[in-house]
Amino acid sequence: MQDDRPIRELIACQKTGWSLEQRFYTDPEIYSLELDQIVMRNWILAGHQSQIAEAGDFKVFKVANESAIIVRSENGRIKAFANVCRHRGSIVCLQQEGNTRRFECPYHAWVYDTDGRLIGTRDMPDDFDKSANGLHPVSVEIVHGLIFICFCNDPPSLEYAKRDLAKPMAMFDFENLKVAATKTYPIAANWKLSVENYQECYHCAPAHAEYAKMHTLMLDKKKLERVQDRMRQKMSACGLTEIDFDFVDTEAPSGQQGYGYSRTAMFEGYKTGSRDGEPLAPLLGNLTDYDGGASDFTVGPLSFLLAYSDHVVGYVFTPVDQDHCQCEIYWLVRGDAEEGKDYDREALKWLWDVTTLADERIIVNNWKGVQSRYYRPGRFSGMEQMEQRWIEWVLHELRKAPKVIS
Ligand code: FES
Ligand SMILES: [Fe+2]
Repeated sequence: MQDDRPIRELIACQKTGWSLEQRFYTDPEIYSLELDQIVMRNWILAGHQSQIAEAGDFKVFKVANESAIIVRSENGRIKAFANVCRHRGSIVCLQQEGNTRRFECPYHAWVYDTDGRLIGTRDMPDDFDKSANGLHPVSVEIVHGLIFICFCNDPPSLEYAKRDLAKPMAMFDFENLKVAATKTYPIAANWKLSVENYQECYHCAPAHAEYAKMHTLMLDKKKLERVQDRMRQKMSACGLTEIDFDFVDTEAPSGQQGYGYSRTAMFEGYKTGSRDGEPLAPLLGNLTDYDGGASDFTVGPLSFLLAYSDHVVGYVFTPVDQDHCQCEIYWLVRGDAEEGKDYDREALKWLWDVTTLADERIIVNNWKGVQSRYYRPGRFSGMEQMEQRWIEWVLHELRKAPKVIS
């Protein structure tokens, strides 16, 4: 039977502790609300400043129908612009990354500089004002070396996130990391299923043999406490302080972007996320040894980072359209580490490549089942509480949409 309840009613009827109603995944009107209320209204990790280290270095970052050029301008500042020509709207930059002093539109060759200013046109009327036709700016901020962008003009404040993440990020010297590898995983599923999957470890034991050997998140509380204790005893000797907070978007003060940080012990014998547990790269920051832990960072609803003692892995989940999304992964090491000498790129990528490929398979299976006429919301387990909180935050944001309120 067709569910034609108004969206307001659908949100109101959603039961806490149960997975989402089918229409949250399949209704185009809800997808469009999600883009407006969530995806385009929050900060998204778009890379690390080391990727555009020189003036003129740029990278293009896409989310759903939006595309931004992120560029280091002539004066050294990182800027972002909508990749949309002010003439008749063509995409301006077709390259994924590179170095340039000017961006020339491939359609009628209007030219923009690295500050987004329109500097070249042909045969325009006398009253045409170039200075009023620069590329539209996209909000961009640097959080301890990480580039975040937001496709709206009044994004949430990152002040509290920057303040509270300063100390934990400094331990790993996030500012001076470099990107050793990236990989994009296309996933044929609604974007929320990917983020939900990342936030729960109920599936880790059945789906991730490699991960489950070293990471402890699927342990019950008592056992987890024991391994956490062992790590805590080692932390300060290694140069790590125990800072642990859980501050997700549902609880962020109004106007602030949500964020969080926590460190979790790995199984005994694992110094980092490698096949044999042995180091993969030089220790980060001023760390003097391995405490056997890994730190989770969250900034906003789509971006996550996992900091081992010798490398950091960044995960960004973004929609492509209602039925497709992608996971972009960054592997970061110390800025002065040399490939081939200090680290092996394939060894560095191994764990999260194999884990993300397995995630892609289970997420696609999930998506197929969710579209079935037999799908009904199911009960969450005790190990899916982060996912549940994230869903509640999504519903909370959707409730604010003018269309839902009216
Ligand atoms: S659309 Fe870009 S120059 Fe015409
Ligand atoms: Fe997974």
